[in-house]
Amino acid sequence: MNILRLQTADSTNTWLKENRGEIPPMTLVCAFDQSAGRGQRGNTWESEPGKNITCSFHFNPDDESGKPVRPAQQFVISEAVALAVVTTLRDFGIDACVKWPNDIYAGDKKICGILIENSIMGQSISCSIVGIGLNVNQDIFLSDAPNPVSMSMIAGHSFPLEDVERALGRNLELFIGRIGQYESLHPEYIRNLWRGGGRLFPYRDAASGRLFSASIEDVEPSGHLILKTEGETRRFAFKEVVFVL
Ligand code: BTN
Repeated sequence: MNILRLQTADSTNTWLKENRGEIPPMTLVCAFDQSAGRGQRGNTWESEPGKNITCSFHFNPDDESGKPVRPAQQFVISEAVALAVVTTLRDFGIDACVKWPNDIYAGDKKICGILIENSIMGQSISCSIVGIGLNVNQDIFLSDAPNPVSMSMIAGHSFPLEDVERALGRNLELFIGRIGQYESLHPEYIRNLWRGGGRLFPYRDAASGRLFSASIEDVEPSGHLILKTEGETRRFAFKEVVFVL
């Protein structure tokens, strides 16, 4: 994967949206300083200049995997990106897993956030803009993000940012190349889930506020989480259920 390094960008996702015509697909656009990083649900994304990876790339699933991705199955893109990040962290000795739907956790803390913005044309995804914020060398976080952590905080030393960027680019290429092979990609995603492995954990139903204990049974191609509670399975969209820490 080619890497394009920008000194500054408000948000690499926004920058790519505006400049997509000039940037070849599968080019990792990294900003040294991202001044207005965007997170999920309208949140901001904190990143100290020069310390972390804040990057985005765009691609058309049909071109990269030879198969169109239907809107109802677009979660496969999240699965591939999450696995690429987990693999990259492991390449550098950091154990990580995927907190459904696509946060990356090291222990019980968030080390990476992913923001995917898809455009739909007809019956398929015509363009996916994938943004990744991976905390590498930042040791102090000032925002009210609940539980941030970085690679350096875990390892006790810093990492050469460009080495991590290159490894991430390689792994993204590998995993995006597999989005047409859902049958092998999906079990790998499930195996790497935080609080997976059929174990029981506490959850809160966001609508009723009710606490319940459940294990993860599966994640549907749409991204819905299937939880197994006593005697029944329940299906949740993002934000409908909260993991209780
Ligand atoms: C989250 O809220 O967990 C998603 C965070 C995504 C942050 C990355 S940093 C690079 C890219 N550009 C953005 O503005 N956001 C994403």
